[in-house]
Amino acid sequence: MVNGIAYEREVEPRQSLADFLRDELRLCGTHLGCEHGVCGACTVLLDGVAVRSCILYAVQADGREVGTVEGLAQPGGPLHPLQAAFSEHHGLQCGFCTPGFLMVALELLSSTRGLTRGEIRSALSGNLCRCTGYRGIVEAVEAADLSWDR
Ligand code: FES
Ligand code: FES
Repeated sequence: MVNGIAYEREVEPRQSLADFLRDELRLCGTHLGCEHGVCGACTVLLDGVAVRSCILYAVQADGREVGTVEGLAQPGGPLHPLQAAFSEHHGLQCGFCTPGFLMVALELLSSTRGLTRGEIRSALSGNLCRCTGYRGIVEAVEAADLSWDR
């Protein structure tokens, strides 16, 4: 399942989950930066846990629930509260890293609330951004933590 939709495909055993999402399902919101597990741009949720889809094989997602950034808001619908907070607090510039940050933040706020700024920084520290200086990203997650009524 990807974003609640069941897909059935035959894949090469060596195909990464990131390539499967982008090339087979055309879910190109999952970005590829380093392609070796360092930058976090390719982060998706696998059974609710943030993982790097560039270093997972697509076959490892067989029978499991994958969440990508496309699942956060419906086309034409309102932004997800995290997306709205990133927009409001200037949590992105070019946006390349943004899907990965959103998925990490989603995992974080789904399990823990009332976070300190240090805890947010620590949770986001595995994701790289070359534009924002991180301040807006941290403020966005902090704002979503305070305002997002789940
Ligand atoms: S593209 Fe996967 S961690 Fe950088
Ligand atoms: S907004 Fe450009 S890399 Fe993060």
